[in-house]
Amino acid sequence: MYRIGIDIGGTNMRVGIFDDGGNLVVKEKILTNAQEGATVAIKRLKLLINEVLNSKEVDKTQKIKGIGVGSPGPLDPWKGEIQSPPNLPGWDNIPLRQNLQDKYNLPVFLHNDANAAALGEFLYAYNKEVKNLVYITVSTGIGGGIISDGKLMLGDKGSAGEVGHIIIRPDGNMCSCGNRGCLEAQASGTGIFTRTQEALKNYDRPTILKNFDLLSSKEIIEAANLGDSFAKHIIEEVQMDLALGIVNIAHAYNPQKIVFGGGVMQSGDTFIQPVIERAREMILPSMAENLDFSVTKLGGDLGLFGAAALVDYFQD
Ligand code: BGC
Ligand code: NA
Ligand code: ZN
Repeated sequence: MYRIGIDIGGTNMRVGIFDDGGNLVVKEKILTNAQEGATVAIKRLKLLINEVLNSKEVDKTQKIKGIGVGSPGPLDPWKGEIQSPPNLPGWDNIPLRQNLQDKYNLPVFLHNDANAAALGEFLYAYNKEVKNLVYITVSTGIGGGIISDGKLMLGDKGSAGEVGHIIIRPDGNMCSCGNRGCLEAQASGTGIFTRTQEALKNYDRPTILKNFDLLSSKEIIEAANLGDSFAKHIIEEVQMDLALGIVNIAHAYNPQKIVFGGGVMQSGDTFIQPVIERAREMILPSMAENLDFSVTKLGGDLGLFGAAALVDYFQD
């Protein structure tokens, strides 16, 4: 049997097919073009699903167990609706589950992207052996998913694990949610970029960052790695903020393992290692002792694995 995983992001929409062994049989992606609106994007998404289903890698005789969809929140997994996420502007109350169910006549599960990714780690990377696991994505936004005693925490609205909106600096940067100083505003890819742009305005000494036309968190982290003192200073502040967020998360959920993923992790260990060290120093020793940190081994495909994991987790 197959399961279809769909990963919706502010930049790309991805589709993958997984077999019973949890192997990714085939995957494809297209740009989201969020500003085009949800209707057009969902039409293109369905064309992509059809293309993937028809690809030569897919055994057409296999049954499909269901479709899992991960998307940035807020969304309502019980209604199956995406409810105007700041990272998908214009996607207001989109009944994506019904839409896909009508088209494919399969069970569809729609959940927060980071909650799905936490399930992907729990089921496929750790084979259900790590019963208390927190997943944290550092990308355009910051998201989290909590596996507690072997279960995905959902909360009343299916939004448990919105750790990007933990407020760590009340006087900090504006967040897309309307609050100030959220972990996401301070330390996501977008947060790193915004902090840098602000700081650059008042910086008249040399920095290699002034040579870039297109700046993103990737170049800023690289510049810090190369020893640029302006970039280093910003990245150290970001690392401290991220560490503070992690300390709060660790104290709230007492995980055995914290797994990191998301675009910013692709900048390599030099960024995350100091964060882990700082966090470790601040977490209560009795809790820190047994706590292990790692970066996802599923890389950019974790979103797809997570979406497929929704089917295995909620269907069984
Ligand atoms: C959203 C979360 C999402 C995260 C990563 C945040 O802005 O609030 O729901 O998990 O971004 O996409
Ligand atoms: Na979440
Ligand atoms: Zn926020």
